[in-house]
Amino acid sequence: MSAISDKTKLSLQDLGIGDETGVEALMGELRASLDAAIAGITSAEAAEQYRIQWLGRKQGLIGAATDNWLKSAPGPLKRVVGKWLNELRARAEAGMPAEGAAFLSPGIDITLPGVRRPIGSRHPVQLVMQEIEEIFRSMGYSVETGPEVETDYYNFEALNFPPDHPARDTQDTFFLAGDGNKLLRTHTSPVQIRTMEKQKPPVRAVVLGKVYRRDAPDASHSFMFHQMECFAVDTNITLCDLKGTLNEFIRRFFGPKVRTRFRPSFFPFTEPSAELDISCLICGGSGCPVCKRTGWVELLGSGMIDPAVFGFVGYDPDRISGFAFGTGADRLALMKYGIHDIQLLWQGDKRFLRQYR
Ligand code: PHE
Repeated sequence: MSAISDKTKLSLQDLGIGDETGVEALMGELRASLDAAIAGITSAEAAEQYRIQWLGRKQGLIGAATDNWLKSAPGPLKRVVGKWLNELRARAEAGMPAEGAAFLSPGIDITLPGVRRPIGSRHPVQLVMQEIEEIFRSMGYSVETGPEVETDYYNFEALNFPPDHPARDTQDTFFLAGDGNKLLRTHTSPVQIRTMEKQKPPVRAVVLGKVYRRDAPDASHSFMFHQMECFAVDTNITLCDLKGTLNEFIRRFFGPKVRTRFRPSFFPFTEPSAELDISCLICGGSGCPVCKRTGWVELLGSGMIDPAVFGFVGYDPDRISGFAFGTGADRLALMKYGIHDIQLLWQGDKRFLRQYR
């Protein structure tokens, strides 16, 4: 490098060059040194140094070579020297990085394919809950939430479960350590109470969230699962409204072919109460192992809100009526997607989860 930069300060005569072969050797040397300089530009500072050293008006090597070599070239060699210097100037200019160019660290091969970062998928239960939320929002329902750690009052008492009533046993409650007042909610129905406490009728709400029960895990039981709950409270709400809303929901969620039937049941917070069955999605109602050959599958609990419940939230039971229904969102996901084991939902196996979008 220093050798060639010294040479640019001398005339061709001083360098002892008098023919085309000599010019070519000299220019080849200058070009090799230029290429090495271009290859060495790895930062904005280096680019600026390069610019001054090669293209600078005063000390630039291309300028110096032009001054000293072209001028001193004898007549017949001028054309050859001029052509070479034009070429090298163009090469030196092309080697200057554009302003704001990004410099890569050496060792990174930008021609290698990139690392693919897979995007996650939505959980099947989340998909189901989003769909339910969408269905009820379109019917004018609000979405309400409540705490997973509840008190006995909201989970039981205000829902008309008397103390020591055997109905409490059906809920397999997890109690928190302490005086037995704090517990993990066993259903989303406490949100009925919380919503009615803060809102005057009319109320139309849907609740989606986690609930907990002391169940031994198997293909259809999990100690944590999700429920959806829907309720409507106003003057003149009747059983017809309950049936109509249920059928609309089922039809939109499972499709128009599904049939429904009501069976009398009992819940402390609804009177009358009914369970809703749907025709089996696997066999279409003709009978198979999934529906235990009955053609029907139990789907949800429902009923007209018991007037005693209105007493707890300060509504007038003579003027106000309402319906409520609730079911497991996980179960809806199992049915909708044909999943045979509820445990699959919470094992975090990506091969299973990525099937759902
Ligand atoms: N909360 C009840 C349960 O978990 C379901 C239900 C909701 C029943 C609303 C009637 C009305 O079993």
